[in-house]
Amino acid sequence: MTQISDETETVEVWPTAVVTGAASGIGRAVTMALLRDRWRVLAVDRNAAGLDQLSAEAGSPGELTARVVDLANVQEIVRIVAALPAECRLRGLVCSAAVGDNTPFLDVDLDKLRSVLEINFVSAFALCQAAARRMAADGGGAIVNISSVSGLRANAGRSTYGSSKAALEMLSKIMALELAPLKVRVNTVAPGPTLTAMAAALHVGPERNRLLRAVPQGRYGAPEEIAEGVAFLLDARRSGYVTGHTLCVDGGMFAAGAFEPRLGGEAA
Ligand SMILES: NC(=O)c1ccc[n+]([C@@H]2O[C@H](COP(=O)([O-])OP(=O)(O)OC[C@H]3O[C@@H](n4cnc5c(N)ncnc54)[C@H](O)[C@@H]3O)[C@@H](O)[C@H]2O)c1
Repeated sequence: MTQISDETETVEVWPTAVVTGAASGIGRAVTMALLRDRWRVLAVDRNAAGLDQLSAEAGSPGELTARVVDLANVQEIVRIVAALPAECRLRGLVCSAAVGDNTPFLDVDLDKLRSVLEINFVSAFALCQAAARRMAADGGGAIVNISSVSGLRANAGRSTYGSSKAALEMLSKIMALELAPLKVRVNTVAPGPTLTAMAAALHVGPERNRLLRAVPQGRYGAPEEIAEGVAFLLDARRSGYVTGHTLCVDGGMFAAGAFEPRLGGEAA
């Protein structure tokens, strides 16, 4: 909790974080972790039923507000931040909402490309900009963008999705430089294959085994494991000197070389 003083009184203010994609998977797990860590969370998603379920299951000690928003609407994004009450201190933003795509490059039509970039990159850009302005006015904060190992390494089938995540990676590093003097830290978490609705829809058939062979730990991650990395990067007490960083939470996938990682504890 932050203590804010003026000449007449001292008021106690819970730090506030906005989390997008909060109705499902990693965004949902991040919301739960932040509530545990005593954040006041504004959870945003276009999935109203998922947000209702989140609200029903969310526990204390933090405080949850849920808002149904389609992030394709940039005006709406700016309104999310403008609507934050003046007395709250915006200290955190987590951009987790995204759409997946696994279309081979030669089959991608430009409408598909634009729709993926619109949600995964343009909406995150707009929200980061609105939030960073507010954080700077509120005395600083931290932004964590959820990218992907597919934004760091070239995976076949990921020409739209991987490019959107690579753009988000670079944007986050540039923001880290420009916003450091304003006391706003910016980092990314790059998950490896993680057990969520997106993975269930995209990683089908031989793709699933192919992915598992590329992960040295030989398993999918749990959304809660990704969320712990995010919670660390948002918490200024634990990561106050960390900015412009990519934290891979990926079972070793990014570190792996051209040969298949050895599974089952075989000796090298
Ligand atoms: N699951 C994985 O294997 C994996 C791996 C690497 C990176 N990621 C990244 O992690 C993040 C979370 O993905 P997830 O696996 O939890 O997926 P998910 O599908 O479970 O959750 C994504 C959420 O984003 C929301 N969303 C999508 N478009 C939206 C829009 N226009 N407006 C508002 N909300 C919208 C969805 O409703 C959903 O609740 C994404 O950025 C994804 O790219 C996931």
